[in-house]
Amino acid sequence: MNHGLFGEIETNVAAPMTLGRRDHLTFRGNVALGRHGWLRLTPAYSLRLVHELLKQSGPNEFVLEPFSGTGTTPLACASLGIRCHAVDINPFLVWLGNLKLTRFAQGFDNAVRSAAVRIAEIARDTGVVGWKPDLHQIEKWWDAPTLNALAALCDGIRSLSGKQADGVSDLLRIAFCRVMIQSANVSFAHQSMSFKKKDGDAGLIDESSVEVGARVTDTFVVAANEVADSLNVGSPTAECNVFLGDSRNLGAALPPGEPRYTAVITSPPYPNRMSYIRELRPYMYWLGFLSDGRAAGELDWKAIGGTWGCATSMLSTWHPNGDGDIPFQHFDQIVGDIGKGHALLGRYVHKYFEDIKGHIIGLRKVLAPSARCHYIVGNSKFYDTMLPVEDIYAALFADAGFVNVSVETIRKRTSKKELYEFIVHAHTPKG
Ligand SMILES: C[S@@+](CC[C@H](N)C(=O)[O-])C[C@H]1O[C@@H](n2cnc3c(N)ncnc32)[C@H](O)[C@@H]1O
Repeated sequence: MNHGLFGEIETNVAAPMTLGRRDHLTFRGNVALGRHGWLRLTPAYSLRLVHELLKQSGPNEFVLEPFSGTGTTPLACASLGIRCHAVDINPFLVWLGNLKLTRFAQGFDNAVRSAAVRIAEIARDTGVVGWKPDLHQIEKWWDAPTLNALAALCDGIRSLSGKQADGVSDLLRIAFCRVMIQSANVSFAHQSMSFKKKDGDAGLIDESSVEVGARVTDTFVVAANEVADSLNVGSPTAECNVFLGDSRNLGAALPPGEPRYTAVITSPPYPNRMSYIRELRPYMYWLGFLSDGRAAGELDWKAIGGTWGCATSMLSTWHPNGDGDIPFQHFDQIVGDIGKGHALLGRYVHKYFEDIKGHIIGLRKVLAPSARCHYIVGNSKFYDTMLPVEDIYAALFADAGFVNVSVETIRKRTSKKELYEFIVHAHTPKG
């Protein structure tokens, strides 16, 4: 056994029982950390982990994050003065990532605070019945008075105009999202968002619509102040960007240029059928990034590992592209075993790795010689079949010509004893 960044390195052997959940190595550890803590979104991974990996950076480091998500990697880089380009397929996450990376002028926080107070006053006084998104069963998410208060706030933010409106209204959208999700009838007890169970009348407070409106708008002002406070914590000092694009075609997603990235630090989607679009839909509908269920399913289909809505029926007619097999012994057997339990799941796993294979082959073309890659991945289990995700990634890297490929076990993911998170490390050859 070697010693890795986070304790024991286990290369291609069963994960040790001694590794606990280590929540500080998840997004839970990010919540209090300036802009990283703006929104608590499912895709995020641990800032601490990224910082550990960035300790190896030299003066000319140029990091690539091909699955940017909430922008943890580019923001960590930007705060440390390291250049970074990131890519994501989800326009909401691209917007959020770039907002986190914005260098706001001094005093901008005060503009955010005063605009929030103005909007809250108007929303409270006029009681406007504003625009509401066409989110399926919206009444399950918010009761009518809360929904009206949110709609009034949303209208107020949209009505901002003038010189500073862009940055200010974007930051107020973050404050709005915090209130919107805090006041929703959803629980985060599990990995993905779910509706809270109604427990009769127990604990219900008898609040009038006016009181609800006042509570929601007050919470908005508090959230806006928190966002304003966060602007001066770990602010970006390097120019970093998130690009909208598909990491299966990095050449098209990134600005043109020589192969230049010296490190990749990322956490790709896991093959666990979790849909980021499903998880992010309240944010995406309210902010206008989604307008109907069909568009949501189509975006999920474009994302690696997406199977929500119409993406499920698209998967049922999907066939391998014939560009060669997945170079992992027993891969066909594993897919066959999973497919015996549920044919669609077999296809799901096959497509997932075909997509990742395409990504890794394209990745090599944009990396400098001796570049290092660190992929944080989780394994999965379908019925009784274990899917050794980390080992399949390692095989894909080796097959694409990467060297020094190894797998490090970093933490247990759930109470299920077989589910772990790993870092797959790989390098491009010296050149
Ligand atoms: C596990 S999350 C990334 C987590 C991220 N490191 C963070 O801290 O937020 C995976 C991300 O990959 C994105 N994604 C999925 N398919 C993609 C593709 N084909 N190209 C680019 N991004 C993709 C998803 O939108 C999601 O944001």
